[in-house]
Amino acid sequence: MTARFPVARPRRLRRTRAMRRLVAETRLDPASLILPMFVKEGIAEPQPIPSMPRVVQHTLDTLRAAAQEAVEAGVGGLMLFGVPARKDGRGSAADDPDGIVQQALRKLSADLGDATVLMADLCLDEYTDHGHCGVLTPSGEVDNDRTLERYASIAVAQAEAGAQVVAPSGMMDGQVAAIRSALDEAGHRETAILAYSAKYASAYYGPFRDAAECAPQFGDRSAYQQDPPNAAESLREVMLDVDEGADMVMVKPAGPYLDIVRRVRDAVDVPVAAYQVSGEYAMIEAAAAQGWLDRDRIVMESLIGIRRAGADLILTYYATPEFLRSLRSRD
Ligand code: PBG
Repeated sequence: MTARFPVARPRRLRRTRAMRRLVAETRLDPASLILPMFVKEGIAEPQPIPSMPRVVQHTLDTLRAAAQEAVEAGVGGLMLFGVPARKDGRGSAADDPDGIVQQALRKLSADLGDATVLMADLCLDEYTDHGHCGVLTPSGEVDNDRTLERYASIAVAQAEAGAQVVAPSGMMDGQVAAIRSALDEAGHRETAILAYSAKYASAYYGPFRDAAECAPQFGDRSAYQQDPPNAAESLREVMLDVDEGADMVMVKPAGPYLDIVRRVRDAVDVPVAAYQVSGEYAMIEAAAAQGWLDRDRIVMESLIGIRRAGADLILTYYATPEFLRSLRSRD
């Protein structure tokens, strides 16, 4: 039956794939995806991570090959995480010029130059024997201000090794200001800061803690990472970081915090990143392995959702060469 009066027909713009592509409001572009990569000291072969199928802890050599391939496929940036051979109370390997991430940064920056954006996660949890993101007081609490001194030194070591962006993820108060002034004093005015500003104390980091071997040996991170019920607090954290000199800010995890992504995007004028974390990846992989979900469609839908919420950049373990190439051929 034909309507007797002109009704709105939004379906006209959904009829063909070409029409849907033409009017898509949100797109996924390899250039806005950042691939997190793990490099481990003292291994001869890449090590699989059981809870993160197809993600590995790289050797220096396999890291170089994988980075090269991701760059050729158009990745926007690489985020490096190091797993040192030795850990101690102060995380000494984190700012050691010969520490594993510094070695990796020197090699990748020689290999890749300016062809991609080389980033380093800046934290202590991978490097401390207790697994916390900072140094501890005698009573076992994370000591904010002594940790800032460590972060300042790590930032300089990473910048000196070739990081173009350092990404503090420890949620210490004042970390962006401390890092900015240390970088400036050491002559690294051009090194940018991507602040993990709104980072929640999340169970979604579970698989990452296997990948980076950094599960806290006692307690948890709720005394420094944010409490999941809070949203306004994220805006406060983001504003403080922007004031302290953050060049880009991040919301993490991404999927369960899309409201935060939107609010942050609307509140600031710097690029906003969102991190689709290990647990978000593991859930998709587990369901797909059971045949319960269509992996490729879920990956696209989850990433498009994060973009639509307002993220300019997405850190995701799906930013693999295969996926980036598939994005390019789709268009
Ligand atoms: C801390 C850090 C973590 C992640 C990135 N940086 C773990 C944590 O805070 O416990 C998690 C990333 C992921 O789950 O994919 N250095």
